[in-house]
Formats: sequence, C-alpha cells, structure tokens
Amino acid sequence: MEDATERSERVADLLDRLTLEEKVSLTHGAVDPEGNATGYVPGVDRLGIPELRLADGPLGVRTEKPATAFPASIALAATFEPELAHEQGRAMGREALARDQDVMLAPGLNLIRVPHNGRNFEYYSEDPVLSGRFAAGVVSGIQSEDVVATPKHFVANNQETHRAEVSAEVDERVLRELYLPAFRDAVEAGAGALMTAYNRINGTYASEHRHLLREVLKGEWDFEGFVMSDWFGTRHTVDAASGGLDLQMPGVTMAELQASDGTADVDGADDDEGDAAPGEGDNPPEGLDQFEDGMPDPDRGDYFRDELARLVESGEVPEARLDDMVARLLGQVERVGLLDGDRGEGSVDTPEHRALAERIAADGTVLLENDGVLPLSDDADVVLIGPNVDEAMLGGGGSSETEPVVLTSPVEGVEARADGEVTVERGHERVEGVTLLDAIMGGGEEDEDDEGDVDRDAAVEAAAAADVAVVFVRDTATEAADRDALSLPEEQDELVEAVAAANDRTVVAVSSSGPVELPWREDVAAVLQTWYPGQAHGDAVAAVLYGDEDPGGRLPVTFAPESDYPTADERRYPGVDREASYDEGLLVGYRHFDATGVDPTYPFGHGDSYAEFRYGDAEVTGDRTVHVDVANVSDRDGREVVQAYVAAPDAPDDLERPPRELAGFAAVEVPAGESETVELTLDESALGRYDGDEGWTIDDGEFTVHVGRTSRDLRDSVTIER
Ligand code: BGC
Repeated sequence: MEDATERSERVADLLDRLTLEEKVSLTHGAVDPEGNATGYVPGVDRLGIPELRLADGPLGVRTEKPATAFPASIALAATFEPELAHEQGRAMGREALARDQDVMLAPGLNLIRVPHNGRNFEYYSEDPVLSGRFAAGVVSGIQSEDVVATPKHFVANNQETHRAEVSAEVDERVLRELYLPAFRDAVEAGAGALMTAYNRINGTYASEHRHLLREVLKGEWDFEGFVMSDWFGTRHTVDAASGGLDLQMPGVTMAELQASDGTADVDGADDDEGDAAPGEGDNPPEGLDQFEDGMPDPDRGDYFRDELARLVESGEVPEARLDDMVARLLGQVERVGLLDGDRGEGSVDTPEHRALAERIAADGTVLLENDGVLPLSDDADVVLIGPNVDEAMLGGGGSSETEPVVLTSPVEGVEARADGEVTVERGHERVEGVTLLDAIMGGGEEDEDDEGDVDRDAAVEAAAAADVAVVFVRDTATEAADRDALSLPEEQDELVEAVAAANDRTVVAVSSSGPVELPWREDVAAVLQTWYPGQAHGDAVAAVLYGDEDPGGRLPVTFAPESDYPTADERRYPGVDREASYDEGLLVGYRHFDATGVDPTYPFGHGDSYAEFRYGDAEVTGDRTVHVDVANVSDRDGREVVQAYVAAPDAPDDLERPPRELAGFAAVEVPAGESETVELTLDESALGRYDGDEGWTIDDGEFTVHVGRTSRDLRDSVTIER
C-alpha cells in the first residue's frame, strides 16, 4: 500500500508476533478499567504492548482529577503569539503525564466558518494561516513531553447542528486553501494521531473518506500517525477500514461505558446478536432514523470488533490494511517511549502553569473600544455588575470541560487589585451555562428561581454612585448545539444599557465563545472581549483593567451583525436536507467582508492598546521576509501585533482570489518611547492557490503585501515579484 506507514524493526517484529485477534484489539477502544481516561485502548501483555489512555482537550487535561483550566482556544489565538500555543501544549503534555494519560485529544482546529458554531471557543480562527500556526504550536508542545497530540476534527466540521449527518458540500480548491491547511501544519509539526469529524464531506463520512484520509493525509502529507474516529463517529466497517480509519473510538457502546463502573470486561460483552450486523454500508446513510437529530449514535461501538476480524478473514478488508492500522498505533507507542516505559512523570497545577494560564488570558483579551476610561486608576471606586460576576468563566459545555484546582472570579480578581472601594451588584439573575446533555436533551438555559436578591435597579443605583461601573456579560455555548443567535442571552443587553445610562464611565467585559452582537457598544466607555478566560479569569481581567498588562489580543474572527455573514443563507448554514453548501467558496470571514465591501462591526485583527504605535516604511528582503519599524509614541509600554496581508496578482481565467489574505504576523512588546524592528516571514501558502491539475501554484506577477494593525487598518505596502 502506497500510503502505509514505515515500520521500525521493533514494530515489524511485534506485528509478526500478534495474532489476528490481538491485532483487532488494537483497532478499537474499550472501557478504561480505572475509569479515568476519555478513551482507552488495552495493551497486549504477552508482548509487552502497554495500554493507551486518551484524554480530552483542548482547554486542559480532562480526567476525573483537576488540571489547569486554560483559556478557550479562541483566546489563545487572539494573542497572535504561537509561542504561547507551544507553551500551553507543553504544559498540557506535562499534566497529561501526571494524570497517567498518553494521548491528548487536542488541538481542535476547525476553521471558524459559522459564527454561531457552538464549538468556536475550542477552535482558533476564521483564517487558515493563523489557525495553522497555533495548531502547530500546541502539537509541538504536547509532543515535546512525549504525549501524542490529536488534531481534530478532520475536516469541515464547522457546525454542531446535525453534526453527525450534515454533508459539507465543498469543492477541492476551497478545502485545500481554507479547511485543510491548519491540519497540514499540525501534521508537519509531527502530530502522532488525528481525529476524524462526525460529518460527511461531499456525501462521504469523514471517518471513511478515502480521498482525504489515504490520498491527502497519509499519501501527500506523509502522515505517519494513526487516525481515530470521533466518539461514536464510525458508521461502517469495510468503508471505514478501507477508507483509512485506524482506530474506532470509544469502541464500546454508551451502555457498556455506563455499566462498567470502571471494571467491566468489555470484550466479553460485545456479542449482542440482537443488533443489526455492523458492516459495509452505503453512503449516504442507511440509518438516518437512528440519527434523526443529526447526533452520533451511542448504541454502536462495535464496527471494529469481531466484525473487523471476520472481514479480514474473508478478505473483504485486506490484511495489509489491518497491519497498517496496528503499525501506525504501535509506531506512536514506540515513539513516545511507552514500549520501554521510558517517560517523564509530569506535573499538574504548577506555579508555572498557573502563570501561563493567566498570561494567555491577559494577552488574549481584546480591547474593542476605549474612550480613555481604561486603564482604571488604582483608587477609583468601582462597582462590579453582571449575572456571573462571582464566577470564573472556564469554557463552554462538552468534552473540553476542565476542572481546575484554583480559580479566580472577576470579583476576587478586582478586589485583590483595587485600592478604591469595590462594590458588587449583580443586577441580573445568573445566566446558567449549557452542557452537552442540555444540548442533546434540548434543555438548559433555565433560570434557577432562587435568586430573590437580584435587582437591576440596585445595580443602576450603585453604578450612578461609583466612579466606574464594570459590567461582566456572557454568552452560552456548548458542543452538540449551535448558538441560536449572536446576541447575548436573556436581558444582559438591557442591563448594560441601564447601567450605561446611569454612569458614562461604564466598561463592559464580554465573555463569549466567538463573535457576539454588542448593540450598546457606542453608549459605553470601553469594551473588553475576554472570551472564556479559564481559571485565571479574575486575575487576568483585573491586570488588564488596571493597566498592569496591555490588552494584547486581536480578533481572530470578524464581528458583524449575523445577517452580514455569508452563512446567513440557510442553504449554507445549517443547510437543507442535511447538506450545507459551501458555495461562498473562499469568501469566509474577513475575505467575505473585504470582497463585498461590507464594513464589519470590528474587523479581523482589530484590538486597541493602551499605548500608541507609529509604523515606519515596510521593506522586503529575500524571498518573502517583510520588515517594519514600530515606534511606541506613548508614555506606556505596550504590545503591538503587526499583520501582513497579501493581495495576489490576477489569476488566469478570471479565477477568483480573495482581495487580501493573512500571510504573516508578529506580536511585539515595545517599551514607551522606543521602537522595534519587526520581521515577518510570510507563509508561502498565502501566496499560492490550489489548482485542480497543477496542485499548489504561485502565479507570476506582482504580489502586494500590506502591513498594518488590522485587516482594515493597513499602514504601508511593499511588492514581491514572482
Ligand atoms: C467530541 C470530541 C471529543 C470526544 C471525546 C466528542 O463528543 O466531538 O472532540 O474528543 O467526544 O470526549
């Protein structure tokens, strides 16, 4: 097989000695006897092959025990500093080791195509270059600790509505230019595993997509690791095995998982003859009724168990394919030192990890508006308002939920930092987060009616009496459901408006999973976007509010009214008859807004600083390195993010190209009154386009590289001839 992985002598020797049954036991998960891991693959004692434990990701290590709860991935991307992704990856790797886990089910890196997607907080950006650099950073970090990283969900998993059924109808060029590059970057960074998506791509399930798995991933990109399904995301035996899936997860049914209480003998429990025989199926789905709500079917965990052995014996699945499935898994087991039991011990919740979680939260905070009220003076009398002002926003619902050892709420963070008086008036009933179960059962978002003391008038009165009012608002999001609107839930907009009317020094701190509509943004003095900041919420937001940290973040997604996004057309989202047309093509995110000339509320790359920067003339050296001097002309130290966007020459045959595409960026700390030369190496893929016949092609002609502060605030340009 051309796409088979290379085998070390040791792996080849093990393969020779494994029986058919033993090989098959390494192609599907089972119940974790310790009940701790998200996923578990038993070892083969006889040959010294160890068991493998897999844990979610991507916001921290999710097991039964606590771990550092990092900010949402979108907050990490908002730092525009991939080195922080590497550091977070390393920290998660160390924590995984300490929790006895071998594989992290992270990073999540799907492109943010749909602003409503309930999992946008687990992903990075609407831009492939930005997403790719963060994905690569997290992968290299996790793996530097000898833990396997699992980029997910491959590919075009861009919505949660009907996630197990919807087919992304997308052409090859768009896949290659937008949806695949971040996965390619993760693979180039050495990812040892990869998780397929639930959805279909052009009618074929991701878990059995031979073209994408065998031709592109394992063939063109030389991916050496193993491909696992998402949980209950395998749909057929022959199609999946032949299509390139190497490991079915979780490999047991939900009932088996629940019945196990950590000790079940799953292998003894897998012969339920009452079930329809799993096996080769047709595409599209034969079992649409089971998947009526478009969610994965937790009753099917057995496609790769006895059935796979039977099909290998009958020749319907070639034995060479089974061998490659196993060789891929064993290759990673060997690479991370598990065959020799030769690994580090790791550590959890260290001072270094706590500081990193706080730094990412602060550097990922985006200052959307500021009329000068921020940073606050130390002695200001402040009232803190908001439904969840006494809670750290850890993340959205679903598989990424991480429970930390320590956390600080906004109230705790500001009280610890302020010298002036701090009062608290929530002004709105608590907004409950939604969980995966709520999403599946259709519940959630119900107010618990036990909060008699919540009074908007009291908050407004307190705001009128304070120097500054800071209002904390939030959205709710979870895996398995999309947000039904981009506006804030319940009456939070009314709360902000009432407070702003009482105090013209009102600051709003928004915790959201992705883009939100902020109808009052011009009536308040400042707006901070903090995303889901994780365990360090309070400390990080206090550091930014009081100017100990410059708000370092820039938007990795465009903010606009929901009707202005290309996905406002229901054919595109959520799709019709379980098909979502990606016929907006390359015009996703800022590419769409730039091409149509529609002004977004806040453009991609936007974010203010407390300092002020002046850009010098840009220059280009070598093939594609751009230099620009950035002077901090204020009296405060500051953090600037320099961005480079490429406009390509006209392509032949009137082939459409987005007006400008992000090709490079760099975050730089510039002390007050000083100047730094920033060097940006442009990503070659941003110059190229994908051609169906020629593959990646860079057209001849003049490329213009615009250098600036945001996708719309461009300060200078240079040209590159190709
Ligand atoms: C999610 C994956 C996750 C898996 C295991 C699925 O529901 O889509 O991202 O890794 O569960 O928890």
